[in-house]
Amino acid sequence: MNYETPLFFRVMEYANAADRDVIDMVSGNPDWEPPAALREGLREYADLEPDRFQYPPSEGVLELREEIAARRGVDHDQVVITNGGGEANYLAMARALERDNGSEILLTDPVYPYYPGKTTMLGGTQTFVETSADGRLDPNVVRDAASDDTVAIVVNTPNNPTGAVYPEATMQELVTVAEAHDAILISDEVYDHYDLSGQFTSALSIDSTHRIVTNAFSKSMAATGLRVGYSIFPPDLVEAAKSRHMLVNVATTRPGQYAVLNALRETPTEYYERNRHRLRERVVTFTDALDAAGAEYTRPNGSFYVMARFDGYPGSLENLMRLIDDVGVAGMPGEAFGDSRTAWFRFALVSPRVKEAAARLADYFD
Ligand SMILES: Cc1ncc(COP(=O)(O)O)c(C=O)c1O
Repeated sequence: MNYETPLFFRVMEYANAADRDVIDMVSGNPDWEPPAALREGLREYADLEPDRFQYPPSEGVLELREEIAARRGVDHDQVVITNGGGEANYLAMARALERDNGSEILLTDPVYPYYPGKTTMLGGTQTFVETSADGRLDPNVVRDAASDDTVAIVVNTPNNPTGAVYPEATMQELVTVAEAHDAILISDEVYDHYDLSGQFTSALSIDSTHRIVTNAFSKSMAATGLRVGYSIFPPDLVEAAKSRHMLVNVATTRPGQYAVLNALRETPTEYYERNRHRLRERVVTFTDALDAAGAEYTRPNGSFYVMARFDGYPGSLENLMRLIDDVGVAGMPGEAFGDSRTAWFRFALVSPRVKEAAARLADYFD
């Protein structure tokens, strides 16, 4: 499998070029409003003094780092503001590898495809561990897979693509496995505001010098284009990460950081509750139609995604393209996420047309 170039862009290009109306359920771009305070922050920014249009501090604007640190119960020195969750994960994985005690990164299968791509790019090797049919990760399987060469275990909760949310006991065990091998648990929590189960546990709640938490405002504030995220490092790992961030990026968008800070301070919790509520409704609409289509599917406990399998219609790229052409629904082929879900498709519930997409699929597979 070629993990180097994630398939997302190829699928989106194909869907955009289609000669018919296509409902886009390919990637995780929320279709709802960002917080009003995010828009206000961006508007305000346009009128600030010229000095605000110059370089911000490389590791991020201090007030934003302090705000995040206060919310997450860490010291602001441990926080690096990044270009979204993508860079946060890159910094975390690079930091784990440059400790020079091995090259193996443990990943789950199915996997968010950017992790294996980054592993290769950074000179590491991937070992995949199986998850159960509903996406649960058994820490014993991770323990058995870990070796003296393991430098990191990368997990994502709530999970893309399975929708699994790992309970506290799992997170605790994963940290313990990382500690036993002097490795780092990297916990990507970019969907933390879309926990539909109430089970979500951040790795930050487990006190350890062997875990890095990554996050972003891309999903929680429905602003994937803003490119503001962060990594929280243990104190002894943070300085080298700041240097790498500086050398690669110089710094992260200053207007974006300003707007995010404003939104963090001013956004009521109802904003996030509304978004979860909308997602819950879409899960019901979509899975009802999948039932009607006789499909097997995963009901997400969190994140944006439903995986579905249609009898006699495996989730290959070819079949995905056929769905685009014949049905006008674009998802992702399961093969994009590893070897374990090649029979499946993934549909992102971030379209106002979920109901219509569900009806089209139900009609087609009926
Ligand atoms: C699991 C996971 N991590 C990270 C990201 C990337 O986040 P960002 O857009 O903030 O770089 C995504 C985006 O879909 C994701 O699904």
